[in-house]
Amino acid sequence: MMLRPRHTLIAVLLASLPVATASAQNLDSLLARMTLEEKLGQLNLLSAGGRASPQQTDLVRRGLVGGLFNVIGTENTQAVDRVATTESRLKIPLLFGLDVIHGFRTTFPIPLAEAGAFDPDLAEATARAAGREAAAAGINWTYAPMVDIAHDPRWGRIAEGSGEDPYLGSLLAAARVRGFQESILATAKHFAAYGAAEGGRDYNTADVSERTLREVYLPPFKAAVDAGVATLMSAFNDIGGVPASGNPWLTDTVLRREWKFNGMVVSDWTSIAELIPHGIAGSRAEAGRRALTAGVDMDMQSSIYVDSLAALVRSNRIPMAVVDSAVLRVLRAKARVAQLHPVAPNAVEIRALARRAARESIVLLKNEGGVLPIDRAAPVIAVIGPLADNRLDALGPWHTEGKPEDVVTVLQGIKTRVPAATQVLYAQGAGIEDTSTTGFADAVAAARRAKVAILVLGERHDMSGEAASRASLGLPGVQQQLLEAVAATGTPVVLVLMNGRPLILEWAAEHVPAIVETWFLGVETGNATSEVLFGDVNPSGRLPVTFPRALGQIPLYYNHRNTGRPPSPEKYSSKYIDVPVTPRYPFGYGLSYTTFAYHDLKVAFHTTTGSRDLQAGPVRLGPTDTLSVVVTVANTGTREGTEVVQLYVRDEVASVARPVRELKGFSRVTLKPGEARRMELRLAARDLAFYGLDMKRTVEPGTFRVFVGPNAAEGLEATFEVAYP
Ligand code: BGC
Repeated sequence: MMLRPRHTLIAVLLASLPVATASAQNLDSLLARMTLEEKLGQLNLLSAGGRASPQQTDLVRRGLVGGLFNVIGTENTQAVDRVATTESRLKIPLLFGLDVIHGFRTTFPIPLAEAGAFDPDLAEATARAAGREAAAAGINWTYAPMVDIAHDPRWGRIAEGSGEDPYLGSLLAAARVRGFQESILATAKHFAAYGAAEGGRDYNTADVSERTLREVYLPPFKAAVDAGVATLMSAFNDIGGVPASGNPWLTDTVLRREWKFNGMVVSDWTSIAELIPHGIAGSRAEAGRRALTAGVDMDMQSSIYVDSLAALVRSNRIPMAVVDSAVLRVLRAKARVAQLHPVAPNAVEIRALARRAARESIVLLKNEGGVLPIDRAAPVIAVIGPLADNRLDALGPWHTEGKPEDVVTVLQGIKTRVPAATQVLYAQGAGIEDTSTTGFADAVAAARRAKVAILVLGERHDMSGEAASRASLGLPGVQQQLLEAVAATGTPVVLVLMNGRPLILEWAAEHVPAIVETWFLGVETGNATSEVLFGDVNPSGRLPVTFPRALGQIPLYYNHRNTGRPPSPEKYSSKYIDVPVTPRYPFGYGLSYTTFAYHDLKVAFHTTTGSRDLQAGPVRLGPTDTLSVVVTVANTGTREGTEVVQLYVRDEVASVARPVRELKGFSRVTLKPGEARRMELRLAARDLAFYGLDMKRTVEPGTFRVFVGPNAAEGLEATFEVAYP
């Protein structure tokens, strides 16, 4: 069923315009009728507290607001939109923004968790569902997807993105844009390199080379632009001294000229006013001038454009053409809204999707001695920990309209899946950040009586997300002691983790037989987790981010360069003297209740006629050719399971040192016990391109290694040659 699009005069006018050409030909007449104040008003974006305040409504009436965010519910959006479209002079409708990050009413797994599903279709589906729910509540614009690549788990916002890999991040960025934009406009954020914050401290300086920017941080934005994203958000941080919200190179040269992005750029929350503390503007007006002339069209929450720029425009310090371009981009965004045909959300389908997403996101990190899956008929099962029966934290950092009462906790999920004869003993043990151990006695007593102890430990929902950087990455409070106290009972322990970032879990990794990473899974936390614990679902999630062994290893990511002295037993090699150089769990890692084996890796040309040359050995690839990488994957265990087959390449010798591995493809495959399948992954020569010495994309001839396997640290290997004709 379609929801009725908003029918206002201007909406009808805007809807009749072809979005791509709306600017020059069709919106000029509207622009010509606007006063300078009305133009600057369209660039003004204000946050409301659920509904527009009387003062905001008055600004809307006077044409001094282009959009509001955090107005939720059609009664609230329609009330103020009616003022815009009937009482303001030009009757231009409003944009209604909201952070719909991992669900609107139905909370899905956090984006980092969902990235671990390695399933762009899933990401598209959850974004589509969230967009439908949000649109039904009057929202027409989300500040998502967050596409920041992050190498530093101290940075709390790693939870909101897709992890460390630009290839996976790009596929998911595009998928989420497609999903959202069925019903609402999307925003790729935060442009750019916000995830490169020094020390993992939120809002901190990023200092990355242009090459790293282009190869690591920008690709997901480019993918979002290519997928038709309507808007981008400029980031808070500076890059080498140039704040992203006043950076003409980023917003104009790269985004608009190189990438041909003709959508709108919105600032982050007061990021224009923050050009003053950054130290590149001495006044609000100067901050506004720098942001607007750099190409930041909409001013979120600083009110600088509307308050301080008219005089600069009148005195020609800001060309009117700059204002007009920004206004046209805002109007075009509104034209796109008017052309959306949101589909009504189906609560049952969305809840089922939340279950699927939660199941696919869970990563089995360790399972020794067959502790998992748990026999549900065990006479006594102990469920322990501050997150075991915790609804709020399971929702994760951006739960928008998500309600704790919608959440099924791990304890509930377990209770509903055991036979009546099984006794489930619950003890909280301690709060998430408690310093007291008084609850330990009950927890230990429960564990002693049980066949297995499930400890659900981790972070509070707001220990990741914005302004939630951590300088230590262990379990908060006394949870580590709780874990050790329970483990000391001798009862086998299953550690279920809930957290918004990689944690450092050395003791657990050494001493606890089973570890299940659930991140924050949203409303279906308890169902999906208990399905995995009891083996109703065989876990298939993989890590979208590296888990370090020690804080001092950070930043640690799989696609690093080799260095001139790669780690070796040799003293003068690149490593630490007190901790191994390898991660605890590498990118792409995740276990299953079955096992998979890889055989017969072959590389061959893929030709247009479909005929393939599958002989083993080196293959020569021309710059426009496509390679077939073929491998047999077999389920060698006793259960059906899903493997994420991953393809990485390494350019052995190039004019610029290339990463030791780069993900270039993956495929989920579900195999029955004993089943083997020949899998083909494609690799185009252009996928091997990188930024050369001249900062132009190039594929250089030479030898490449290709790896196909279960994660970034393992797999079969073959080589091929790229040769120019
Ligand atoms: C965050 C953005 C968010 C905005 C609006 C900012 O503080 O950095 O990600 O979209 O607030 O809520």
